[in-house]
Order: sequence, then structure tokens, then C-alpha cells
Amino acid sequence: MNPTLNIAVKAARKAGDIILRYHNQIDLLTIENKAVNDFVSEVDKAAEDAIIDELKYAFPDHSILGEENGEIAGKDKRFVWILDPLDGTTNYLHGFPQYAVSIALYENDEPTHAVVYDPFKEEMFTASKGDGAYLNEQRIRVTNTQGFKDTLIGTGFPFKEPQHLDAYLAMFKAIHPKVAGIRRAGSAALDLAYLAAGRMDGFWEIKLNIWDIAAGVLLVKEAGGFVGDFSGRGKYLETGNVVAGNEKVFKEILKTIHPHLTHDLQR
Ligand code: IPD
Ligand code: CA
Ligand code: CA
Repeated sequence: MNPTLNIAVKAARKAGDIILRYHNQIDLLTIENKAVNDFVSEVDKAAEDAIIDELKYAFPDHSILGEENGEIAGKDKRFVWILDPLDGTTNYLHGFPQYAVSIALYENDEPTHAVVYDPFKEEMFTASKGDGAYLNEQRIRVTNTQGFKDTLIGTGFPFKEPQHLDAYLAMFKAIHPKVAGIRRAGSAALDLAYLAAGRMDGFWEIKLNIWDIAAGVLLVKEAGGFVGDFSGRGKYLETGNVVAGNEKVFKEILKTIHPHLTHDLQR
């Protein structure tokens, strides 16, 4: 394994150990509301601190952008690690076992290494640019379905941004009759990892944060999939509006949601 990716894997395991240590004692955690429906516990913070310690030790000059600590500028601005120490906090706080650690390295704004780790299921999804995507070191690929027929599509509800709910529901209604099923599993990082692993055929979500998707998008691309914003172009990290899928499903989702895009969701 690439040595840089190896460090990210090690950091993800450390965070995963912290997450699992408390997963049966959620009642003991202090939970804060960052915003409406946006929760954080000391597990999120401790997991992020563990990742930062590991990365700072190996790459003292790199910059870091973490969900809980914000930006930590390093001497070298070309390399930025983007972290979500616990993606799926609401699931975690309910004992619903679908959550992950997400770590990505961006070099000059391009993703070069990615890790999404589900500590509960012991599933480590990894990718390095140009080297393909892997689940527990086995190569993974997106599906090759030819359209929407018989597909399973992942999504997320815009529960933190209710102003987009009507537009979202219109998209949902348009996609729903064309596919075999739609899943809202509660961790965007894992949704993208599952897409990369061929467990789903497509995915779309409104207004995600950069740390939710920074690693997942590289997994999808390295697994042969496509990722875009709502106009199919490359501004998904900036807008947080994400469509992903194998080539055909990616195009189908874009076409189907297009009539329902409000001005605010054009990209
Ligand atoms: C959330 C998850 C969820 C998505 C939310 C994210 P968090 O991340 O990725 O699937 O729908 O928008 O905020 O808050 O659990 O790290
Ligand atoms: Ca997240
Ligand atoms: Ca999080």
C-alpha cells in the first residue's frame, strides 16, 4: 500500500477504536447541538484529535481541514487533509450501525488518497489516485447497469436545510418510480463507498459538506464511477450538491432531477 495511504488507514483505525469504545455507552456521552438537527459528541472530537495527531506526526507541514476543528494551516498549503471523524453521528447516537471515519488528502485541490472506514463492520475502503479502489484490500468497481431499471439508489434528506425539502421531494418523486429502491442510510461517506463497491448504482444529495464527500468521491472515481454537481460538472465540493453513479445511472439521475432544480441548486 502507498505509504501516505497507509498513514491515513492507521489514523482511521485509531479513530475507529475510539468510536467503538463508546458505541455501547452512548448514554454516558455529552451531546451538543451545533445547529438544528446537527449533533456532536465528545467521541466526534476525540476521534478527530486522534486523526490529527497521527497526521501531524507523519506530515508536520501539511494543512488539515476537519469538521470539528476547522482549518489548521500548515507550512505547505498544497497538501490538505480533509476529515470527518464520524460521518453518521445521528446514526451513532441511536446505536444504528451505519457510520464511518472519512479521511482524504488533496494535493493542489485534487484528491490523491482516500479512506472511508466503518469500524463496526470492519470495512476499510481505500483509494489512491490512479491505483483503483479497494475494500479490505480487494479491488472494487461500480456496477455496470445500463439505466435506472433494477437499480438501487442512495440519497440523503436535506434535514439541516429544510428550505430545499420541496425541491428534494420533487426529485425523489421523479426518481422513485424508475428504480428498484432508494436508500437513506445516514452516512454520505459510506453511501459513496458503497457505490464504489457496487452495492448501489447511484447517489444524489443536496448541500453536503466538503468533509462528508472528500474521500468518497475519489473512491467512486477510482472504482470507475462518475461524480458531478447538479449540472454534471465539477463544482460538487464547492456547492455540496452531488450526483454520482456508474456512467449510465449518473446521466439518468442528472436528467431526471434537472426539471426540479431551483435557482439555488443549479450547480
Ligand atoms: C451527515 C451524514 C448524512 C448527511 C448529512 C451529513 P454527520 O454527516 O453524511 O448522511 O445526510 O448531511 O451532515 O453530521 O453525521 O457527520
Ligand atoms: Ca459528515
Ligand atoms: Ca461528522
